[in-house]
Amino acid sequence: MEIDGVSIRAGDLVLLDNGAANHGPAVFAEPDRFDITRKAATHLTFGHGLRYCIGAPLARMELQAVFSQLIPRFPTMRLAVPAEGPTVRKDVRTGGLTSLPAT
Ligand code: HEM
Repeated sequence: MEIDGVSIRAGDLVLLDNGAANHGPAVFAEPDRFDITRKAATHLTFGHGLRYCIGAPLARMELQAVFSQLIPRFPTMRLAVPAEGPTVRKDVRTGGLTSLPAT
């Protein structure tokens, strides 16, 4: 079969990008706009079904702790490079930045 110009043969390994699914306009209004108040609980960041991330509750607690403390602790923290500077890792499926220089 062919998807978006890419041929997929029987037996080929196909990895789905959960992050791309989170940008589906049929589910998320203005999917590419960062909106911290978004209430959509249907995202696929932690996977879905039987393989759903077993660490999701821990990850949520950790991120809550980090983001609730980071700004109060370092209120003057700023990007040390232009906003378009940080590059996204290409070697892992879940992405992340290669570095995030801050002052
Ligand atoms: C923001 C942080 C995290 C993200 C985005 C994330 C994402 C994911 C995703 C997408 C899957 C499903 C993979 C698949 O469908 O094959 C998964 C599975 C899993 N995650 Fe996470 N994860 C996070 C944090 C954690 C933490 C903190 C732990 C453990 C302490 C953890 C342990 C696991 C395990 C063991 C599985 C496999 C579950 C299974 O197959 O039954 N994850 N994670």
